[in-house]
Amino acid sequence: MKKSKPMHGTSKAKGCSHARLGNFCKMFPKLKSWADECKITERCEAAEIAAVLGGSGGMMHDANSSSADSAIPAAYTFFAQFIDHDITLDTTSELHGDPISTKEVDHLPNLRSASLDLDSVYGFGPEASPHLYDQEQTGRLLIGNDVNANDLPRNSDGRALIGDPRNDENLFLSQMQLLFLKFHNRRIISRSFEEAQTDVRFHYQWIVLYDFLERICDEKVYQQVINNLSKFPKYDIKDKCGRICMPVEFSVAAFRFGHTLVRSQYPVNREYPVVDLFDERFGTEGFSAVPENLTVDWRFLLDVERCHDYVKAKAFNHLLADELIRLPDPVVGRFASDNDRSLAFRNLLRSFALGLPSGQTVAKEIKAKGYAIPHNGPDISALEGWKCVEPSLQKKLASSTPLFLYLMAEAGDKNLGDGERLGPVGSAILLEVFITILKECESILNPPKGYKGWKPDKCISGDRRLTLADIVRYVG
Ligand code: HEM
Repeated sequence: MKKSKPMHGTSKAKGCSHARLGNFCKMFPKLKSWADECKITERCEAAEIAAVLGGSGGMMHDANSSSADSAIPAAYTFFAQFIDHDITLDTTSELHGDPISTKEVDHLPNLRSASLDLDSVYGFGPEASPHLYDQEQTGRLLIGNDVNANDLPRNSDGRALIGDPRNDENLFLSQMQLLFLKFHNRRIISRSFEEAQTDVRFHYQWIVLYDFLERICDEKVYQQVINNLSKFPKYDIKDKCGRICMPVEFSVAAFRFGHTLVRSQYPVNREYPVVDLFDERFGTEGFSAVPENLTVDWRFLLDVERCHDYVKAKAFNHLLADELIRLPDPVVGRFASDNDRSLAFRNLLRSFALGLPSGQTVAKEIKAKGYAIPHNGPDISALEGWKCVEPSLQKKLASSTPLFLYLMAEAGDKNLGDGERLGPVGSAILLEVFITILKECESILNPPKGYKGWKPDKCISGDRRLTLADIVRYVG
């Protein structure tokens, strides 16, 4: 075996060095929680409300797959999940716990670095995470296994050898991870490990900021921020040591918007034009090898090729696909109750446990900071399924809506997101966090020496705006 030169895969930008993970925190620590606003003190009452809204057959369950589609290519759903797994991971808070204080939230560890540094791909770099790297070919990431060269590297139990095990949670996400492994391995030709890593991170960050966020955010709020970058962010989400903390308003509500984009069924390739997200026929219910014939052909989910039809993400609204209301064992464990299998239920109950404020309170707060938030918020009483909610609960929720439901209602409201995008409040929360991350960490907005004025490689994007489809075409 060749001896490889030791390499450092950790970046040393201020406030966000990969090796120094931070904690969670609150973006609005002074706001009253939704539960306090509604005078809900018992967790069983909160769980009952979460079940009525988010349980199986509840208001947020798209039981008949009747929700419309958005105009966004379906692949962006898994790109969004891939971003989520790069920046946030809470394994400590209790789903069924009593609400914790703001101080306790400040002590919850975030097990991902809150920076767009792809620690989910690189782990802690070749030195500290050698099991992710090809020991024969310096700096290259491992790819494939004995069964499928177009799958993730796996151990003998079929477990993926990757920076964040969650990126093997469904077929499409695992293939998104593979896309970035391959992208790195192409970019390392003629570059050192560090150069390739920076190059991959910068292309990824460019797509996040100028492609992904542009597609999913409210147009007015996005333009307001992008055209006045020096005036944002408005909130300080750093701890006493100057490390970025991950706001729970983002990780438990706003960035979980991606759950509404998930469809129950997808095309995989020409041979398999319709499979369930967790299709039992193939044993691909997450965290398992991808058989060769299920290798994802992104042309069916993304605008990769002219005149090739592709599916779109589900509409942005308060409805979650059936596959997410009945999560399989590998995702939630064999003994999970029916409610705990529902992602809508989990999002709402987790919000209660972490003391999140109501949507209306957050909207007022963000508007006061100067964000372009219209006077009228979403009409909660117009939501599909609202009529089945008891009048006494309707009364509580109409003026004090759990943040996740509020943001999804905003996205689906015909005067706001109209099913095509997030609403203004959700967009403001996302942009606050992403702009903070990009400004504080080594990034396209805060480039190190030698990278000033960095632009995506034209061999990848041509003269067009760089998009996710360019990466797919480039990797081939
Ligand atoms: C494709 C199917 C998906 C499944 C099965 C899934 C499943 C889950 C589960 C089980 C959790 C933990 C819930 C809890 O106990 O509180 C979670 C958390 C989360 N999900 Fe998803 N998710 C999916 C897609 C997405 C997408 C597309 C996004 C992106 C925008 C997203 C964003 C998040 C975020 C931000 C968290 C919190 C992570 C943390 O801080 O630990 N998810 N998801």
